[in-house]
Amino acid sequence: MCILDVEVIKSYVRMCNDGWLQGWHERNGGNLTYRMTKEEVEACKDSFTYDRPWVPMGVTAENLAGEFFISTGSGKYFRNVILAPEENICIAELNAKGDAYRVVWGLTKGGRPTSEFPTHLLNHSVKYDITGGKHRLVMHVHPVNTIALTFVLPQNDKDFTREIWDMMPECAVVFPRGVGILPLMLTGSIDIAKATAEKFKEYDVVVWSMHGIFSSGENFRDVFGIIETVEKAAEILVKV
Ligand code: 13P
Ligand code: ZN
Repeated sequence: MCILDVEVIKSYVRMCNDGWLQGWHERNGGNLTYRMTKEEVEACKDSFTYDRPWVPMGVTAENLAGEFFISTGSGKYFRNVILAPEENICIAELNAKGDAYRVVWGLTKGGRPTSEFPTHLLNHSVKYDITGGKHRLVMHVHPVNTIALTFVLPQNDKDFTREIWDMMPECAVVFPRGVGILPLMLTGSIDIAKATAEKFKEYDVVVWSMHGIFSSGENFRDVFGIIETVEKAAEILVKV
């Protein structure tokens, strides 16, 4: 079976394209990582090669040692994923210490996983422990209205959450723990990875001020739905 016909790869590609259609991914904006099940790795592994080098990540996720992640490539455009998945996404394996990865499939024209890989990994690590392995997906997006609000709303979790929640009754149901917010920090850095992971101990949605949203969940549908809901409430607030 061609790896592009494996269900999880198809779902991943669809999610990238859906995000693009929402306007969340200008240029190379945003990134998506998914922790594969053993069965999914099995279904894909005939396409894997093991000749690319191990790359240290600068962070350690011991509880994710040996796991396989699908990731968007750094600098790659979400809008191109559906046209050429093998050039724009990859599968990366974590080593036995959980501190380095190697690409085993994809990025056929070169490249590396997203520059936010450290943040994704630490988020996965935190959620792995909290949810007993149920959360598999971390998505980062650049949605206009949520970002716009970070320029005017109070920069604390409680007030930011309250302003968003007040726009739609569904919000408190879809993200009952609310939204964490971080100040503007250096993107792609280890500091922002650690700060985001700290917030993920409490929330499933974390807003990066003047930058975007990170969200974690069990599957493609749930994470997409959470981000859609946050951004829709933000749009209502901007219009109000
Ligand atoms: P990458 O292209 O490295 O994934 O970066 C995009 C981005 O949104 C950085 O925050
Ligand atoms: Zn970003």
